[in-house]
Amino acid sequence: MKKVLGLVISERKFGNSELLLKEIMSQIPEQCNLEMIRLTELSIKPCKACYRCIEPEAECRLDDDFNFVINKIKEADALIIGMPVYVLGPHGYYKMLTDRLLGAANYSRYTKGKPCVIVYTYGIQRWEGYSRMAALVFPRMLEMKIIDCWQVRAPLPGEGLLNPQNIDHAQYLGLNLFAGQEYTKGPRDCPHCGSDLFRLLPNEEIECPICSAKGTLKPNNIPDLSKPDYCRFWPGELENHFKGWVVETKQKFLAEKDRLKDVQKLYKDKDWWIKPQN
Ligand SMILES: Cc1cc2nc3c(=O)[nH]c(=O)nc-3n(C[C@H](O)[C@H](O)[C@H](O)COP(=O)(O)O)c2cc1C
Repeated sequence: MKKVLGLVISERKFGNSELLLKEIMSQIPEQCNLEMIRLTELSIKPCKACYRCIEPEAECRLDDDFNFVINKIKEADALIIGMPVYVLGPHGYYKMLTDRLLGAANYSRYTKGKPCVIVYTYGIQRWEGYSRMAALVFPRMLEMKIIDCWQVRAPLPGEGLLNPQNIDHAQYLGLNLFAGQEYTKGPRDCPHCGSDLFRLLPNEEIECPICSAKGTLKPNNIPDLSKPDYCRFWPGELENHFKGWVVETKQKFLAEKDRLKDVQKLYKDKDWWIKPQN
């Protein structure tokens, strides 16, 4: 039996993220093993930059729930992520989870090509900020097939389900979770990764900050990124990065350790740290 994992990144019980995920998950036509995780109830600590997770099959050594979450994602046949926009970006816990993907090349062996739906809910028109591009990073790093990156306006808890069009779309996503192709990006989205924000470069060039494809703007601000010199999501590129540059950087660190220690020593006496008194 297929496994589907719903990942809710909101403390709000029966809020929009939770209900939209439940609506999608209850429409999957075949019998599946359905599981949900409320990420905010778990402990996800900051990455310690030990680089252990880049070794093949090495689990993260931090004493928290990351290994539980990533193992559940690896085991699942499909992932559905739901989160609210908080202060112009996706909920911070989602970034905490995304930051733990230095071992992505090891995890993507299990997740590559598997369907993923992202739902992000927000309250006010034009307060979505950079949420779309940031929400795409996690499944892109895991090389998943993104069935949709769906933005839903719903300020009040559960309001997203008052709109019949939202219910229809949630049901469509559930019905087509395993049948669907990658979603069709909008005319002003990056055709490679779906990001909707671009960096302006000299010589009238633009760059997608998420996949790094370069191009130009056509009339009416339509991005033309049809012939990029590079895209970090091209097949093999993420593996080159994580198994190449990242591994080499760890080796370089070992070779330069003593010289770096000498630099660090110069700042040891500047001990200005404070913490709250318990
Ligand atoms: C701390 C906080 C910050 C928020 N920041 C934004 C924001 O920047 N832009 C926006 O459109 N909505 C914002 N909202 C509204 C939520 O994104 C919206 O209500 C969402 O549907 C909540 O999802 P949930 O019910 O799954 O928690 C914020 C809500 C909270 C509680």
